[in-house]
Amino acid sequence: MTTISVIGIGAGDPEHLTLQAVRVLNDVDVVFVTDKGATTAELVDARVQVCQQVITDQDEYRLVVVPDPPRDRRSPAYREAVEDWRRERALVYDRLIRDELADGGHGAFLAWGDPALYDSILPVLDHVRQIGTAAFDVQVVPGVSSLSALAAGHATTWTRTGRPVQITTGRLLAAHGLPADVDDVAVMLDGGTAFDGLDPDLQVFWGAYVGTDHELLVSGRLGDVADRITALKAAAREEHGWIMDSYLLRRAGP
Ligand SMILES: C[S@@+](CC[C@H](N)C(=O)[O-])C[C@H]1O[C@@H](n2cnc3c(N)ncnc32)[C@H](O)[C@@H]1O
Repeated sequence: MTTISVIGIGAGDPEHLTLQAVRVLNDVDVVFVTDKGATTAELVDARVQVCQQVITDQDEYRLVVVPDPPRDRRSPAYREAVEDWRRERALVYDRLIRDELADGGHGAFLAWGDPALYDSILPVLDHVRQIGTAAFDVQVVPGVSSLSALAAGHATTWTRTGRPVQITTGRLLAAHGLPADVDDVAVMLDGGTAFDGLDPDLQVFWGAYVGTDHELLVSGRLGDVADRITALKAAAREEHGWIMDSYLLRRAGP
């Protein structure tokens, strides 16, 4: 049976690659790398470098770069737009698995951070199964997520002492504000500044490009540091053409 490994590669620091990821990478026949276009070329390069650095025999695998179908980001129907895009991607993956891998072969998709956090590879592979033309087993290799790297960068914890934490997106935070019953909220995928207008007494632990050479970290009372974060985000986007940032918002308490 063909095996597809979904390998978490960490969120930018090559030292966050696990021993398991290295072992599995050394077993694959084909590594599929999705390419979202010129602005995120650095992210494709990062994946290629991982393969070059840790796969011992460079003649033993092939790298297949897959252009990502464009996603309709203007659609007000967010979920439907994402589902349509996943289905389109599934058709591409289905073809790749059938055309690029021999029966019994081993292919890998490299997931940024951990495949279980805001990553589409596993849901897309579910769609591929539904298409029903490619037969394969899925193996998941967990990775160090950007949230783990962010907490480490700020030497803090997500859960304080036995408390809950909610992981959400900038879009949901902007739409609904901070939940009333959760005091620690991790925010990812914030294309803007969804923290605008929130209680200035919240604490924020913010990080961009965490774990990379471009890492930026800011923490403090939201009312004191929000403008600085906004300015850093704008300048970083201007400089690199893309930005990946996450933050923890925390109400005071034990
Ligand atoms: C599509 S999600 C992928 C998350 C990934 N699976 C993970 O485990 O971190 C992309 C979001 O992850 C966060 N992110 C990824 N890499 C990051 C980094 N190096 N520093 C800060 N945030 C990062 C950002 O919130 C970004 O918008």
